[in-house]
Amino acid sequence: MTEVATTLEVLRARVAGWRREGLRVGLVPTMGNLHEGHHSLVRLVRARADRVVASVFVNPTQFGPDEDYAQYPRTPEADVAGLEAAGCDLAWMPSVELMYPLGLARAVRVQVPGITDVLDGAHRPGHFDGVCTVVARLFNQVQPDVAAFGRKDYQQLAVIRHMVRDLAFPVELLPAPIVREADGLARSSRNQYLAAGERTLAPSIHRSLLAMRDALRGGMPWREVEAFGGAQLAAAGFQVDYAVVRTPLLAEPGSEQGGERVVLVAARLGRTRLIDNLEFSLDA
Ligand code: PAF
Repeated sequence: MTEVATTLEVLRARVAGWRREGLRVGLVPTMGNLHEGHHSLVRLVRARADRVVASVFVNPTQFGPDEDYAQYPRTPEADVAGLEAAGCDLAWMPSVELMYPLGLARAVRVQVPGITDVLDGAHRPGHFDGVCTVVARLFNQVQPDVAAFGRKDYQQLAVIRHMVRDLAFPVELLPAPIVREADGLARSSRNQYLAAGERTLAPSIHRSLLAMRDALRGGMPWREVEAFGGAQLAAAGFQVDYAVVRTPLLAEPGSEQGGERVVLVAARLGRTRLIDNLEFSLDA
């Protein structure tokens, strides 16, 4: 049975009880509207912790003024049913007032420098400050031993790793594999915004990522690969924010040949912004 907690008193009482029993506590932070990608995070944490808490909170501080905060799908009943089926013990569903008790204007913010200035950070100013601000709060509220974050949000995972290390949060991060539809489209709550024609086009992102990987493995210089990936998506009808080749720390690769790479894309179809990435080695 998944219990729903909407007050800090209930959340803390449950977590304290588990701790007294010597149990390990895992956290899956989410913004709700849960799908198989989120459920797989719950199962991943379940395998590494005795009790699983999933937070469901649409976080206003990570949305820009022209973004979809108001429209973001909110489906709490279906979320709790899905969490229950996935084996979650507690759904933490705080209100905005509880999460930001001093109000948004007076909220203490967490800012990670450097890595948040590029890619999604450049296209969505303030986004990662909002993510870190809420994830730090969730870590303080739940005090988990482990917490899972999806690899689809590659930059988010890198930013949270940086924050956890620098602020010495006593939590182990579990990166979770990207969950894809049969046609390769990465699962995302925003996929449901896509009109039928856009949904047909959307898997081209994954195909472009595969083509970029193959071109790099075939020896094409990385800047040419970026230009080719972006042009391919634009020709398919996307407005491309970026199509890039990076090292795992999101630096430009330079001239070295081998090593680990990630190709990342953010592109819009109509009003829907999709992100995806592919990690691979050039050494194979
Ligand atoms: O990845 C998300 O769903 C959100 O950015 C997160 C980590 C739950 C913070 O609001």
